[in-house]
Amino acid sequence: MHFFQSALEDRNTVSDNTLRPLSFDDFTGQVKTLERLQIMVGAARDRGDALNHILFSGPPGLGKTTLALILGTEMERTVRITSGPIIEKPGDLAGLLTNLEEGDLLFIDEIHRISKTVEEYLYSAMEDFRIDIMIDQGPNARSVRLNIPRFTLVGATTRMGMLTAPLRSRFTLQTRLDYYDHDDLNTIVVRSCELLKIPAKKDGTREIASRARGTPRIANNLVHFIRDYAQQRGDGIITLKMAQAALELLEIDSNGLDEMDKRLMRIMATNYGGGPVGLNTLAVAVGEEEDTLAEVHEPFLIQEGYLQRTPQGRTLSSKGFQAIGLTGSAGSSPRDPQEQLEI
Ligand SMILES: Nc1ncnc2c1ncn2[C@@H]1O[C@H](COP(=O)(O)OP(=O)(O)O)[C@@H](O)[C@H]1O
Ligand SMILES: [Mg+2]
Repeated sequence: MHFFQSALEDRNTVSDNTLRPLSFDDFTGQVKTLERLQIMVGAARDRGDALNHILFSGPPGLGKTTLALILGTEMERTVRITSGPIIEKPGDLAGLLTNLEEGDLLFIDEIHRISKTVEEYLYSAMEDFRIDIMIDQGPNARSVRLNIPRFTLVGATTRMGMLTAPLRSRFTLQTRLDYYDHDDLNTIVVRSCELLKIPAKKDGTREIASRARGTPRIANNLVHFIRDYAQQRGDGIITLKMAQAALELLEIDSNGLDEMDKRLMRIMATNYGGGPVGLNTLAVAVGEEEDTLAEVHEPFLIQEGYLQRTPQGRTLSSKGFQAIGLTGSAGSSPRDPQEQLEI
């Protein structure tokens, strides 16, 4: 089987290809999503049909691209990979779609960044497997109908809220990937160590798993760094001591919080009394893109209860204050209890 992995795929996903699970059996965690996919794949295969359209959402590094590629393997079909911002004109989309074969999968990463015009063409492609393209301009302008083979659109997004309702509703399955628990991450870390032939002790892999922000991509990055560390500072074995020393060097704390997480919380505490403070204000204050804060940092901090999202902005919880060695709670001025109830 062939994958048309092209330059369109982001660098992150290409660099750790060796660690990418290739089948459902090989994939750890996300049990609900996995069962939903197995049902759809099993049924489509039994009927000899193309798979229905599927949308993955969730923070970066949790397995969206991996699952899209697994769907190709399990369906024994080609996966073509592209990304929202790259499809600039309807003609680009037409080119992609008309090159597909019956049953192929088209993976559009960052689908929330697709342009409005292209999105409208996508509707008829997904629903009716055809698109009407305008060619020429002025008096010669005419519309040409292109039929497209029955294909499967697999979309991925880190920002479900930025997807329009009409696009979202055209996916048969919309499934959200969650952060992994420590047991699942440990399984992933052990698997990666085996694949990379790195000797590792149980408490060493456990330590990595508990400090990887619930994210397989981070866990794998840590495995790579700690291997280097153990090679330079120890005897090459990932032990608890090696893992702890390496993580300290990376300034990743016992809860997996990194420098940017801490900086964000520190600024919220010291400059804004714990909030509420708007995301754009925070982005400027910490010198990071607003998108990165919203996609990478905030979801984990909210899920773990360090931050809260309120209509007025973000607030730091008492757990958040503790994480940066302070005591306190958000909103030094008393707030209307009714307003808090609505949050
Ligand atoms: N469930 C999993 N089991 C094992 N490894 C995983 C799993 N999910 C992700 N990974 C690893 O993490 C990396 C990042 O996953 P990826 O699918 O690229 O994330 P996303 O597309 O959601 O940003 C992959 O290369 C893969 O090695
Ligand atoms: Mg990806």
